[in-house]
Amino acid sequence: ATARIGVTGLAVMGRNLARNLARNGFAVAVHNRSPERTRGLVAEHGDEGTFLPAESMADFVASLERPRAVIVMVKAGGPTDAVVDELVPLLDAGDIVVDCGNAHFADTRRREEALRAHGLHFVGTGVSGGEEGALRGPSIMPGGSAESYRTLGPIFERIAAQVDGVPCCRHIGPDGAGHFVKMVHNGIEYADMQLIAEAYDLLRAGLGAQPAQLAEIFRGWNSGELESFLIEITADVLAHTDAATGRAFVDVVLDRAEQKGTGRWTVQSALDLGIPITGIAEATFARSLSGHADQREAARGAFPDMGATWRVEDPDAFVEDVRRALLASKIVAYAQGFDHIRAGSREYDWGIDLGGTATIWRGGCIIRARFLDRIRQAYDERPDLPTLLVAPWFADTVNDGVPSWRRVVADAARAGVPAPAFASSLAYFDALRAQRLPAALIQALRDNFGAHTYQRVDREGTFHTRWPTDRTETRT
Ligand code: 6PG
Repeated sequence: ATARIGVTGLAVMGRNLARNLARNGFAVAVHNRSPERTRGLVAEHGDEGTFLPAESMADFVASLERPRAVIVMVKAGGPTDAVVDELVPLLDAGDIVVDCGNAHFADTRRREEALRAHGLHFVGTGVSGGEEGALRGPSIMPGGSAESYRTLGPIFERIAAQVDGVPCCRHIGPDGAGHFVKMVHNGIEYADMQLIAEAYDLLRAGLGAQPAQLAEIFRGWNSGELESFLIEITADVLAHTDAATGRAFVDVVLDRAEQKGTGRWTVQSALDLGIPITGIAEATFARSLSGHADQREAARGAFPDMGATWRVEDPDAFVEDVRRALLASKIVAYAQGFDHIRAGSREYDWGIDLGGTATIWRGGCIIRARFLDRIRQAYDERPDLPTLLVAPWFADTVNDGVPSWRRVVADAARAGVPAPAFASSLAYFDALRAQRLPAALIQALRDNFGAHTYQRVDREGTFHTRWPTDRTETRT
């Protein structure tokens, strides 16, 4: 027998992807560096479909139909390079290596170029949805050549989540485009989670409520515009009680958020491209800050705690204010993320379809939400939209939310509850809509201390004022 596709690397994500493929009727070759995992998979789940287990990489490759398609599901970085190096001499021109890990898109570009020289396709593919998604239908973001997608498309579209009969998978664009889009997905995931966490913190402080009561609020929000997987699991987590102590689970978890790197990469790339993804940046820095235990302890010792004394006057109105502020801030974060994708696409000539990207995030992935369908619609109607903020539904929602947004950010500042992502999203919005920005003063200062020149509002050209001497203006 031959396999339609193979998976090497059978930790939980690889194993679940292989099971998903088998369950959907694709004969799948499976391989892992230590063969116990391969045997375990077949012993436990062999009845779900056709698995072709192999103990050596050579046997694994030999069991594949041509063109061969091999999914590599190992750790990003060195381990991926090691597996790719082992595979290349075993493959023939036209074969396809698919990296489904969270690789950096620059590594993917490098690998794609290297494999292209051997006549091989290297397809960096974003896969989102965690363990459950991999098994039951993830969102899949393949990069690489259009030719490779002719082989992979029918398989991936079959195993992906489906929304309204549309698969949550499409060819994103050449070389690193898939991993780039997955990276920004994760950046948005960071922002979304930070905003939810700030909303929870504000509600808890302002209402003096317990996590189980807050779970009900989030559950309610999940039947409105905020409906999303992350809001749903927030309600779930807040309602959970720790078995060992009987306390709310969220209260026994150490308040130090970790990260594996995709949020940081998103911010680094946005800095290079000059795209202000302030929501994602705040979220990434908020995680870093949470990890600085020594500084936090020192500051706690030096300054009084204020949070415990704050209670809002009208709890229902406050809950609604926080909901609107969350929605408006979330719109900013997504607008920035899509700006970032557009900039990356231009820089690397990827031709990424923004509406199409929103389409495949409607289901399967961690940021899946009702909201994504509105983003799809906005970019489908107007692919050259300057910012998502001005698309009709988004502009109306933000406008409606502005008074609430300002009250919540002001309340948070007065009460001393940190809400960096709420506050910076509002500041971004205010900066974008300002008639004039103090950037004019910055240009004047740069010219003053360093003769860096400026442009004028009333005349074309580049100018410099002779600050140290007679202050006359020259055109440069
Ligand atoms: C997904 C997730 C997945 C992973 C995150 C966690 O889309 O399925 O984003 O890729 O859980 O990378 O990232 P951090 O460890 O950096 O929070």
